[in-house]
Amino acid sequence: MQTVSHGIPADEGGGPRLASLLRITRAINQVRELRPLLALLASEASAAIGAERSTVFLYDVSRRELWSFVAEGLERQIWFDAGSGIAGRVFRTRTTSIVNDTRSDPSFNPEIDRRTGFSTRSALTVPIIDTMGKATGVFQAVNKMSGDFDGDDAEFLEAVAGEAAVTIENVRQYEKRRRMFESFVSVLADSIEARDPLTAGHSLNVMRYSSGIAANLGMGTDERRAVEYAALLHDYGKIGVPDDVLRKPGPLDQAEAELMRSHVERTASILAAVEFEEELALVPIFAAEHHERLDGSGYPRGLSGDRISRGGRIIAVADVFEALTSVRHYRDPMSHSEAFEAIASQCGRIFDREAVAALGTYLVAEKLLQEDFVSLSMSSSGSDVPAGSGNLPRPSSR
Ligand SMILES: [Fe+2]
Repeated sequence: MQTVSHGIPADEGGGPRLASLLRITRAINQVRELRPLLALLASEASAAIGAERSTVFLYDVSRRELWSFVAEGLERQIWFDAGSGIAGRVFRTRTTSIVNDTRSDPSFNPEIDRRTGFSTRSALTVPIIDTMGKATGVFQAVNKMSGDFDGDDAEFLEAVAGEAAVTIENVRQYEKRRRMFESFVSVLADSIEARDPLTAGHSLNVMRYSSGIAANLGMGTDERRAVEYAALLHDYGKIGVPDDVLRKPGPLDQAEAELMRSHVERTASILAAVEFEEELALVPIFAAEHHERLDGSGYPRGLSGDRISRGGRIIAVADVFEALTSVRHYRDPMSHSEAFEAIASQCGRIFDREAVAALGTYLVAEKLLQEDFVSLSMSSSGSDVPAGSGNLPRPSSR
């Protein structure tokens, strides 16, 4: 057993290893999800060092155990006491370890091999240390395929583990901020839902439908998140609509309808004051356009066609579908098939055809509608019916 600790890699035979570190750095700047990124680091490390496989073990504070967050060639997770095995020793001592014959190392824990069915002959293990100097896990390459693990291999793996440490810290910070923001958004959404028990759950359902539509349209993660937040907050402006109008059982008179319609502009101005992250910058726009209609008959701006944002078109479909299928003060709910048929009949004029089709795909996947029914509804909807002649009841301004 040999224990070493090195600084910056001085990779002599270094071309491929330097190229590998450059690829890692590039990936860190592009990928924001931890697992694919660490999987890339593991495979780069194995290839550059000539190891059979690499594993990134992270420390779970609540269980006080190390677990295989990313493990090449292993499907299931392994958990073990953070004080046990070579990995446990490296974690505890924060010191790199080169073991070229595991049988000679008293720390070696054969139990893990028994559980995985793998045979560990040699192991190069380095700690993953955060900017506060705390170990957050270990990076381990096993079974050098030719010769022994040496100091150069250790330097290289330490450099990779350094990249892993920064990435883990950044992603955790990002996740923390995101969870904080999400809880803030859901408290806002709950506060408007609390106004009227009958419509409680509307925003959450609109978010689910919108998210399903966005996924089926192949939207990227960021745009989809923006759609979800906008869907959750689309009616927030109703905070300014008095209770007697919001909960009125019968039809609204003109002044009341005006008041109700004003919720969209209020939503827009409230959300415009929220400082969204760059990738969520479109949230206020998406939310502000949920009552716009393709033929320009919507409000507040009477936008038409693709002047309405894609997010706005998606939420419009989800909002109406949710409203039609829920009990309201002024009417009974429709069945999923009746509501979908009603919306599909307005495809291309009121609602975006792709968004409606994507809703159909989502409802089929959720077993809420039959595939044949969705195809039939979509194929019998056409652009030859004049605007306003469909059988869509009025769910609109509420
Ligand atoms: Fe609305």
